[in-house]
Amino acid sequence: MLITGKWVWFTLYLRLIALGLYENEISCVRRISAAQTTQVRCVQEFDVSEDFARKLDSEDPLARFRERFFIPEGSIYVDGNSLGLLSRNSEKTVLRVLDEWKTLGIKGWLEAKRSWFYFAEELGAKCSKLVGASPEEVVATGTTTVNIHSLVNTFYQPQGKRRKIVADALTFPTDIYALRSIIKLRGLDPSENLALAGSANGRFLDENEIIELMTEDVALVFLPSVLYRSGQLLDMRRLTGEAHKRNILIGFDCSHSVGVVPHFFDMWDVDFALWCSYKYLNGGPGATAFLYMNKKHFGREPAVAGWFGYVKDKQFDLRLDFEHARSAGGWQISSPAILSSAPIEGSLEIILEAGLERIREKSLKMTAYLMYLVDELLSEKPYCYGVGTPREEERRGGHVAVEHDEAMRITEALRARGVVPDFRPPNVVRIAPVPLYNTYHEVWKVAQHLKEIIDCSEFEKYPEQRKAVS
Ligand SMILES: Cc1ncc(COP(=O)(O)O)c(C=O)c1O
Repeated sequence: MLITGKWVWFTLYLRLIALGLYENEISCVRRISAAQTTQVRCVQEFDVSEDFARKLDSEDPLARFRERFFIPEGSIYVDGNSLGLLSRNSEKTVLRVLDEWKTLGIKGWLEAKRSWFYFAEELGAKCSKLVGASPEEVVATGTTTVNIHSLVNTFYQPQGKRRKIVADALTFPTDIYALRSIIKLRGLDPSENLALAGSANGRFLDENEIIELMTEDVALVFLPSVLYRSGQLLDMRRLTGEAHKRNILIGFDCSHSVGVVPHFFDMWDVDFALWCSYKYLNGGPGATAFLYMNKKHFGREPAVAGWFGYVKDKQFDLRLDFEHARSAGGWQISSPAILSSAPIEGSLEIILEAGLERIREKSLKMTAYLMYLVDELLSEKPYCYGVGTPREEERRGGHVAVEHDEAMRITEALRARGVVPDFRPPNVVRIAPVPLYNTYHEVWKVAQHLKEIIDCSEFEKYPEQRKAVS
């Protein structure tokens, strides 16, 4: 029996070699994809049939949440990492706030069902459950970029030799624009004081290289949790530990991870973080963002002060000295945008009800399934699609970068077919199957559309120019 078992494995190994493949890990084989990238191709429990997609849906514990969302008619909406969809819960909370404005006027600040005066802190407390923080460490406020300015300015204290900020060259550009302007505001030169971790392949960052940049002249590290193009998830725990070993403060832009990836800010001892709420949090276009302030830093002085950061019960004393609340709320600047926060109340209800663990589990399965379909159906000629997203679960966020030389025109062709992804230059069709409202069958259909668009050279109909919003 033993000999027979060994023989089976040996012949399987020979067959893999004959196919030009070689064993890498127990369930994975490494191959050169059509896009000439070295990838680890995971042999999952999937198959390529439509029935299989339907079977996955029939076993999906989150399937019932789809009907809680407004899916644009006739569309396969896989763009939740750009703008998540409206839920019935959010519609209800927005309508309630509108009604409170209508019937209560200014009294809404205290008498609304969720008093507007405390709304930002209340949403923060709810959202803290998604990021492993205490309720008072999170607040709904501002916008992502404003929060970068507010928090980085608070933590960036260039002194003596320690003047540099470490960031990375693959982050979302607004983060770099903000960092450069912050350095300039201190009278320093960004070309000398901003160190960007590079990337050998333009897709992924290597944590070891980021750590190498954490030298004695570094004051602060500011990184994304998930890279907006490739979907790589950085090891925030490790990076935080390594920064702190060197007495460097560290913060993260978690716009591409909160709501779909669990975070443990307190356990990891992250100094600060911020994130938007219009992606996986389904808060709506331009919705209020969030920030996390580690409680050990509550005593720091907010660098961008404003009256809504005042100690709450003294705020309306309207004194000219500034006493900030010893909580994340202390980093609020202006009156909370209640209408842009109202949808978040509804959407957080759904996420908390569905459970982040189950959301992450389905997200990983959906992205693995999509990558499997690309590998199996679309990687060879004439399709030539590749996957530019890490295969390892612990290195993957919630979306997949499907790469192709004609990605921009393919994205247009997908849109004409009712599929809604987005295009990220130079060659990425970015696809985010959202666990709360996408189905496995939709993922399967996306793969068929990608195939047909090449079969009929359909993408050639579209101009080679990018639209204003892509
Ligand atoms: C990672 C990241 N940070 C910041 C932003 C910009 O945020 P905002 O326009 O809310 O300032 C985006 C926008 O998509 C983003 O993806």
